[in-house]
Amino acid sequence: METLLLLFLLTLASGTSGIRTVKKISVQKQQTITIPCLYDQKYTSYTKYMGYGSFWMFSGFVSHSRLSIEDNQKEHFFTVTLREANVSDSGSYWCAVTLSGNDDGTRLYLDVTEAEAGLRVSSQNVSGYEGENITIRCYGASQWCTIRGSCVGRDGGPIERTAVSDDGDALNVTIWQLQKEDRGWYYCSNKDSQMPVYVTVMDAQEIIQFTTNSPSSSRLTSSDQAVIHSYCVT
Ligand SMILES: *[C@@H]1O[C@H](CO)[C@@H](O)[C@H](O)[C@H]1NC(C)=O
Ligand SMILES: *[C@@H]1O[C@H](CO)[C@@H](O)[C@H](O)[C@H]1NC(C)=O
Ligand SMILES: *[C@@H]1O[C@H](CO)[C@@H](O)[C@H](O)[C@H]1NC(C)=O
Ligand SMILES: *[C@@H]1O[C@H](CO)[C@@H](O)[C@H](O)[C@H]1NC(C)=O
Repeated sequence: METLLLLFLLTLASGTSGIRTVKKISVQKQQTITIPCLYDQKYTSYTKYMGYGSFWMFSGFVSHSRLSIEDNQKEHFFTVTLREANVSDSGSYWCAVTLSGNDDGTRLYLDVTEAEAGLRVSSQNVSGYEGENITIRCYGASQWCTIRGSCVGRDGGPIERTAVSDDGDALNVTIWQLQKEDRGWYYCSNKDSQMPVYVTVMDAQEIIQFTTNSPSSSRLTSSDQAVIHSYCVT
């Protein structure tokens, strides 16, 4: 009864929710899936949870069997990772925040399929260095979107420095000249579902550190200097 009441309150709140996620994710059984839930800055210090039927899992607690939850307060999102997905895990899930009054939450549907999912990516976590071009392959997708819902399809779209091409097998998403502000959550989508992808942008500092910490060069050589110089000027 309490669960029903909560779901009802969450449903009412969802029009103006401070939590954002995708609507539907499909994944093949036995695979790992990460679900991002983005929240308003005002929710940073509150406890987050994922609800599934009468089962709730809260942030800050030890992971429960195949499910784990992680709150990234710096970037204002939490992720729920489900390992070895099973067909019986299919259903409605809630990304939610515990507040002193009614909780705030947003619902999504997880579909765990017997067969290969129609929409997939080789990794949900891609990274590149600042200034680099990166390509993400989305199988069965027709669009690439920011988590806020701006999309780029075959006919283009409003995401800066981003274009997609289709080689029949997959949608190739290219982000040119990766910038710091490109970091964050995106998703590939088709008519039916969305697949979240997190883009990490590493800065030139990390390359310098890698170069100078390299065990083969305890002293900087002139070629190290050239590498450092080229990254300092970009
Ligand atoms: C996986 O799903 C099947 C079918 O719904 C069920 O019989 C089985 O117990 C589930 N396995 C686990 C580990 O939950
Ligand atoms: C993505 O991978 C990087 C390391 O490659 C890791 O630091 C980061 O936490 C991962 N992010 C997510 C959202 O999985
Ligand atoms: C990125 O792509 C552009 C256009 O295709 C190309 O001119 C540029 O050299 C590429 N940059 C890198 C770092 O590969
Ligand atoms: C898509 O990307 C793959 C791997 O990065 C590449 O081999 C392929 O040629 C690309 N296809 C198109 C149409 O750009």
